[in-house]
Amino acid sequence: VNGAAERDASSSSSEAVDAVMRAGGPRLVGLLQRTESRLVELAGGHGSTLARHATATISAGGKRLRPLLVFLTAGDAIEPAGEQRLVRAAVAVELIHSASLVHDDVLDAAALRRGAPTVVAAAGRTIATATGDLLFSRAFAELVTGGELEDVRALSTAASALATGELIQRADAWDAAIPLERYLHRCELKTGSLFEAACRLGALSGGADERVTEALGLFGRRIGLAFQLLDDVLDVSGPASRTGKARGTDLLDGTVTLPLILAREDDPQLAQLDVRALRTPADAERVCDRIAATGALAAAKAQALDVVAQARAGLPQLPSSQRRALELVAEGVVERYA
Ligand code: IPE
Ligand code: IPE
Ligand code: MG
Ligand code: MG
Repeated sequence: VNGAAERDASSSSSEAVDAVMRAGGPRLVGLLQRTESRLVELAGGHGSTLARHATATISAGGKRLRPLLVFLTAGDAIEPAGEQRLVRAAVAVELIHSASLVHDDVLDAAALRRGAPTVVAAAGRTIATATGDLLFSRAFAELVTGGELEDVRALSTAASALATGELIQRADAWDAAIPLERYLHRCELKTGSLFEAACRLGALSGGADERVTEALGLFGRRIGLAFQLLDDVLDVSGPASRTGKARGTDLLDGTVTLPLILAREDDPQLAQLDVRALRTPADAERVCDRIAATGALAAAKAQALDVVAQARAGLPQLPSSQRRALELVAEGVVERYA
């Protein structure tokens, strides 16, 4: 538990993201504070059982990376009425993210999240499922109060993609032979699509034209993909003191990720691996060591860095301060795993 608590303290303070906050000044801080209070307000409103777990989820922290992307992609040229739309969008995106984590922890049978017991560990599947559902529904309720159909459409596209990605992950579980392309597609769906929606919603609120909105959406999709690739590397590389969970946790629930996909090309024994035969944390750690010995962790990281570079290269023309802020967020995604 200590490890997880430490991890949360360190992972929330990326140097690059701190630099973004300093550059964004009181306006950005104010937008994030409004987002925070609204999240707490919404989580608390639906009966005591759900309120307890939804509030615990929201209050346990999190880096609020997706709300930050909503604000940064919108730019500065927004009047107060526009800021309301922006905060609604940030709240809605973070609610979908939180909902997906609560459900993800049911699917992955995870014990800890953000340094605290998961809802499924604390209260069981039924309540965890309902808590996630509640958070999902509040996200759309929040957007609907603004009446912007495009915002609702962008977020519902992401929510569907996310669910599809999680289902593909379950369908592919225990299969050590899944093709690289299918793995990457799953990561884009389950993580890239919500980063994309954050950037699209920001762009739309900021009045960007269609071309810029598309380009910013693609930027989000790419850094979301890189973020997931690096999360998957970390699961294999550890150390546990940093991640707050044992190495190889993904393998133990059947989730085959980039490090193994790359390592199986170089190690015939890994190519033959029966993932179901891994029963204990020690089994999983042994496989992690074998994967590391092939050099696949460095190769996976390099692949993620390449995706971040593509994200930066594809940024549209923007005011220089806005561009710099988005580049810093892209750096922050990588820096967390340096
Ligand atoms: C965790 O996302 C889930 C993944 C997509 C890997 P975050 O790392 O953004 O989670 P919080 O919100 O900061 O806890
Ligand atoms: C990310 O997948 C979860 C979602 C995108 C819903 P993971 O299962 O890898 O995330 P963690 O490792 O539990 O945070
Ligand atoms: Mg998980
Ligand atoms: Mg993971």
